[in-house]
Amino acid sequence: MPTSGSGAEQPLAQQPTAPYLEAVTAYGLRGSTRFHVPGHKGGAGADPGLRSALGDSALLLDVPQDIEGIDIGPSPTPYERAEALAADAYGADHCWFLTNGASQGNHALCLALAGPGKRVLMQRNSHASVIDGLVLSGGLPSFVAPEYDPELGMAHGVEPAALETALSRVEGGVEAVFIVSPTYYGMATDIAGCAEVAHAAGAPLVVDCAWGAHFGFHDALPQSPLALGADAMLASTHKIVGSLTQSAMLLVSGSGRVDQAAVGRAVRLVRSTSPSSLLMASLDAARRQLAVHGELLLDHTIHAAAQARAAISAIPGCEVVGEQFIGRPGIAAWDPLRLVIDVRGTGLSGYQVSSALRASYDIHVELATHATVVLVLGIGQPVEALERFAHDLAETVKRTVSASGPHSADASATRNALTEPPVALGHDTAVAPRDAFLGESEAVPVDEAVGRISTEAVAGYPPGVPTLLPGERVTAEVITYLRALTSAGARLHGAADPSFTTLRVLVA
Ligand SMILES: Cc1ncc(COP(=O)(O)O)c(C=O)c1O
Repeated sequence: MPTSGSGAEQPLAQQPTAPYLEAVTAYGLRGSTRFHVPGHKGGAGADPGLRSALGDSALLLDVPQDIEGIDIGPSPTPYERAEALAADAYGADHCWFLTNGASQGNHALCLALAGPGKRVLMQRNSHASVIDGLVLSGGLPSFVAPEYDPELGMAHGVEPAALETALSRVEGGVEAVFIVSPTYYGMATDIAGCAEVAHAAGAPLVVDCAWGAHFGFHDALPQSPLALGADAMLASTHKIVGSLTQSAMLLVSGSGRVDQAAVGRAVRLVRSTSPSSLLMASLDAARRQLAVHGELLLDHTIHAAAQARAAISAIPGCEVVGEQFIGRPGIAAWDPLRLVIDVRGTGLSGYQVSSALRASYDIHVELATHATVVLVLGIGQPVEALERFAHDLAETVKRTVSASGPHSADASATRNALTEPPVALGHDTAVAPRDAFLGESEAVPVDEAVGRISTEAVAGYPPGVPTLLPGERVTAEVITYLRALTSAGARLHGAADPSFTTLRVLVA
């Protein structure tokens, strides 16, 4: 087990236990009489179709908050112990289990760190949930642009020097700095450098490590952000390390730069009073597996991924993007659990390859862009599927190229359309995101929106990078870019009108 934080309170020897999972299982299976919610009563009152779909155990273990011996009773309760063990595994001072994803963590951190009128510096390609958090909190954003690879249409991380420049431009300083690492493409930022810069400016560094919950648990992986000096991090545990969808963790270091009481209050504010025991039990279990067996599981996956990479690289026109990018601006390290395949050499777009893989082999990738297809591997990735993949991809490319010709119009049109990178666009935040989001708005034809204040956050999805945010003045460049994105087949996340015919703006 590679990391340890407050080991004195939670000896490493306790990592093989899963106190919350065990307490929920004990209660769920012991046949207690349930005169409490949920109304399905451990499955007895559930629709038979749901029972056979989920199995009896899932319904028996679906228990509410405030059950003696699970999350109430003598402290530390199993629930408190589970969060403490997670904090320990990640080298954090405190962990909060989240049942509404890392999105909930970003909402809570904005509420805790960026109150009304308070300014934060955020990476432009932060996840939409950071801006949503500012809508909730009333905080104000300033932006730092990530490094950008125009050829691949890929935003990377933030360089410490860029962060320093951006911070020096914000009059009156900022309450916190929010950066993202790793990116959707598995590229990790120089977190130690960014932490130094943020701390020198008197601000805590928050790292959205949604995609890196496994970092720090194997030597071949980047270190965990907290080990590199970050003050708080998010781990979207469901993405890679095996907890159930929608579960995640918010972890705060012992640096004292982040007010833990404020974070705790904010987490409660954005949490249901009925958080799912299944989600939280899955977090406890995922932490145990990661801490106890993670290194070996990751080892198998990393080896299988290396073999798959070699096989994919041998396919004419396909190039694997990854380790060779380390050292480029915005990339200090890299996640081998991401397979990013540049398919431009085939003459096809990533969108075409991804839909052909789906049609021919029922293979569903995480992300397709004009240039790439991206596969996300899990902590215990089934190796056979990876072994098959290079063959399936080779066949797919061959068939699709012969059906559509080697230089399809789609691929080159898409490439041309995306020569203007979203991070280079000027952004003019004229109104606080909260005021724009809550203000009176109207839908106008997109061309007429130029010069008006957007009330929408619009991002090409995946990867959910906002191009337009609430409170920003709409420019002609932004409209051109978003139009190009839709015509290239990307979905516009957050747009009230997904066809992008109209845009909602503040009533003048
Ligand atoms: C960088 C980043 N942060 C946060 C999130 C939100 O995570 P979740 O889906 O767990 O709410 C995502 C989702 O993809 C993400 O990419």
